[in-house]
Amino acid sequence: MRISLYTGPGFLLGWDVMTVDSENGRAAPGEPPHACIIGAGSSGIAAAKALFERGIPFDCFEKSDRVGGNWVFANKNGMSAAYRDLFINTSRPRMEYSDFRMPEFYPDFPHHTQIAAYFDAYVDHFGFRDRITFETGVEHATREPDGRWVLELDNGQTRRYDALLVANGHHWNPRWPEPAFPGSETFPGEQLHAHSYRDNSIFAGKRVVVLGMGNSAMDIAVESSYVAERTYLAARQGVWIVPKYVFGKPIDQIRNDPRVPFKVRQRVMQQLLRTYSGPPERYGLPKPTHRFGEAHPTVSGRILDRLQHGTIIPKPNISAFEGSQVRFLDASAEKADVVVYCTGYKITFPFFEDDFISAPENRIELFRRVFHPDIPNVFFIGLLQPLGAIMPLAETQGAWVGDYLLGDYAPPPAAELRADIEADQTAMHERYVASKRHTIQVDFDDYLNALARERRAGAERARAKGFRPPAQCRPSAAITAS
Ligand SMILES: Cc1cc2nc3c(=O)[nH]c(=O)nc-3n(C[C@H](O)[C@H](O)[C@H](O)COP(=O)(O)OP(=O)(O)OC[C@H]3O[C@@H](n4cnc5c(N)ncnc54)[C@H](O)[C@@H]3O)c2cc1C
Ligand SMILES: NC(=O)c1ccc[n+]([C@@H]2O[C@H](COP(=O)([O-])OP(=O)(O)OC[C@H]3O[C@@H](n4cnc5c(N)ncnc54)[C@H](OP(=O)(O)O)[C@@H]3O)[C@@H](O)[C@H]2O)c1
Repeated sequence: MRISLYTGPGFLLGWDVMTVDSENGRAAPGEPPHACIIGAGSSGIAAAKALFERGIPFDCFEKSDRVGGNWVFANKNGMSAAYRDLFINTSRPRMEYSDFRMPEFYPDFPHHTQIAAYFDAYVDHFGFRDRITFETGVEHATREPDGRWVLELDNGQTRRYDALLVANGHHWNPRWPEPAFPGSETFPGEQLHAHSYRDNSIFAGKRVVVLGMGNSAMDIAVESSYVAERTYLAARQGVWIVPKYVFGKPIDQIRNDPRVPFKVRQRVMQQLLRTYSGPPERYGLPKPTHRFGEAHPTVSGRILDRLQHGTIIPKPNISAFEGSQVRFLDASAEKADVVVYCTGYKITFPFFEDDFISAPENRIELFRRVFHPDIPNVFFIGLLQPLGAIMPLAETQGAWVGDYLLGDYAPPPAAELRADIEADQTAMHERYVASKRHTIQVDFDDYLNALARERRAGAERARAKGFRPPAQCRPSAAITAS
């Protein structure tokens, strides 16, 4: 079957669509690289679609029996953090892929069941479901001296590939307070992480402490406040709380032109928030020590209402547990039955050896959050925290990697690439509050614009090189670090 969807220069090579015969070795010289995608969440399927429409042979391995990852409630992979009443906090037009709209009847902020159904429909619409191997986890990924990837699957099989796309998600490995609070080991009540929270039945009639000021803490404190005897919201630092709507429309649909300097946009948003809801201190929350846009946004249309009605009581950070009491940093103490740690997640790649590729303290240095500076045939999809939704960014990243594998994009020289990574890291550290949750931040529109520019520049470089697929990923070539 000839591929006819893709119209970039690589198409002129007229590669055939094929299934990967990776068990028996590599493809013949001249064929495009054989790729593997780990994970079929919203990032993995976006990358799969990009490779599929470019005629790049690939396998996608997915632990679960379905696509959608985090958005599948009670996902049998055990990795989803979705709770029964989870709704997205990035609005529908921000979250949908560029060429597949969510149904018109969906609300502005759909329920997780609608989001999961949308990802399912995406795969069927573009017709690549048969390229995903379900209920098959990648246990181990190593790189042979010639650069080929060797993947060990949990069904005992071993597969070989020329390129590896990692889309295993970064919101499934809970980060508990480090170190644990003194006395927590003898607390007689229940302690859980937001990742295992499913619904508020566990709070009925209880005294609940919710720790954190991110989006999990907001949702879970609000849910608790309807059924618990008491709900305390403990924070180690203040945040700006962003409403879901302003001026009658989702706040993330307000024009955010990347050509306007960030400082100007920041000032406008800060003023908007102050006018709309006043400072967080008015609700008893800690005063933020940063300006808007210097922390991952905490979005909630409901938390201020519940605070105003006294159904959630703000507290500073926990200092210790004393029997069944929780002591806070202001020296107050409250009896508690349940403590929910909404303290974030660890970026983890269990299939790589730690000394090969890992993200200690959630840090991993990549060129524009995708390309590894030392390993030319591994790519990361959806490994970013946007001020906005992840899906359209993962879609663009997939297309970018697809272009690269076809020879339609060439990266900058190694020194330039490293300098870019360094500049990116410096800018992020200068702007954001120091926290393990601010290591992969991007601004949605700015990032898309920057990738578009980079892809154009890389297409020019590729043209100068005669649109040759990267030697490092070509099936017949020995692969060396660039
Ligand atoms: C409670 C919550 C709410 C959120 N709300 C939003 C929101 O409103 N908007 C937004 O943009 N983002 C939101 N996020 C961020 C979330 O990360 C993204 O929405 C999205 O799930 C990212 O998709 P992903 O494919 O990168 O990861 P995931 O959805 O985690 O999918 C990863 C997939 O990889 C598979 N996998 C992992 N390891 C392996 C392996 N070794 N072998 C085979 N398969 C593997 C998993 O089974 C899974 O299917 C939210 C996160 C949480 C926790
Ligand atoms: N409705 C939705 O769409 C929804 C709901 C939930 C989550 N999400 C998304 O899921 C992702 C994860 O969100 P999250 O809220 O679970 O995690 P998060 O954004 O990483 O927030 C973690 C919070 O816990 C605090 N914290 C961490 N360690 C602590 C400690 N030892 N003591 C006290 N406080 C501590 C952090 O404070 P510091 O800032 O000081 O580090 C931060 O306030 C985000 O992308 C979020 O947008 C979306």
